[in-house]
Amino acid sequence: MGDDTLTARAEAIRARSNAVLEAHLAECEAPDALARAMAHAALGPAKRIRSILLVLAADCLSVEVDVAVRAAAAIEVVHAASLVLDDLPAMDDATERRGAPPVHIAFGEATAILAAISLLNEGYKLLNSIAPISADARAQAVDRLVAAVGVAGLTSGQWNDLYPASDGGLDAITRTHAGKTGALFAASLAIAGCLADRPPEMIAALDKAGRAIGVAFQGYDDLLDRYAARAVIGKDTGLDEQRKTIADQMDRATAIAWCEAQLDDGLRHLAAAGLAETDLTAYIRSLAVRLAAPLCKTELAAASQP
Ligand code: IPE
Ligand code: MG
Repeated sequence: MGDDTLTARAEAIRARSNAVLEAHLAECEAPDALARAMAHAALGPAKRIRSILLVLAADCLSVEVDVAVRAAAAIEVVHAASLVLDDLPAMDDATERRGAPPVHIAFGEATAILAAISLLNEGYKLLNSIAPISADARAQAVDRLVAAVGVAGLTSGQWNDLYPASDGGLDAITRTHAGKTGALFAASLAIAGCLADRPPEMIAALDKAGRAIGVAFQGYDDLLDRYAARAVIGKDTGLDEQRKTIADQMDRATAIAWCEAQLDDGLRHLAAAGLAETDLTAYIRSLAVRLAAPLCKTELAAASQP
């Protein structure tokens, strides 16, 4: 598939995932400000990378697109919740997210915390309400999402990011990335396998692929925090100064190559799952190019360096 067709496909998935999200949130009965805070978090201009990965993987596995898009929207609601929490003053104390004030600045901290909890629950509900798939497939998918958010994934990863071991090097950083970001990417691909009722070995390969892609994505994200301009990424830069990231471990070119190696690892696991040379792999390759683009503009990076 050509670049233009792939871009159009990714855009169509983004639009469908947004539409499901919007419709689902519109049906939530919440006090007005809480509902608006949830919408602010979940409906802003987002890349929807996890959605696109899930839907492209599901398509390779012959899952109905309506089913895949609902699962993708569930992942996005959960991701939005994690960002609301991540932006709080007690965490990253962010001032901009997706080109707008984060939820705690727009609606206050208490509303932000309650919006995050509400969004998490809506994500689980949305995934658990998908039809027509078997109850077993649905239960497996929900299990994956719940595990990704919990101590086996995101919460431990976020904790390790906030309180890194003083002697932690690249391995520790990679484990942190695998938890805070890899787990939800892993769930996105593994859930596609669950919805398609594929065997455990294939779901395990999809999970590993997603984790590696998530680690790569977090690596690019940390490099953008260090080197890119705020206007380019639509969120704060320099917030990782208190954190241990790959930007401290190696120079920019080596770090970009490290991220590419993680993506290659992901592509190898996708090949093991039987998904080599698909729209999914083409999208992952194109993503690497797009994420790295602001890092390759030397003048821009020099101007924005902390
Ligand atoms: C994102 O982590 C939050 C989660 C993974 C839940 P970061 O703090 O590294 O990313 P940004 O820069 O806020 O998006
Ligand atoms: Mg952050």
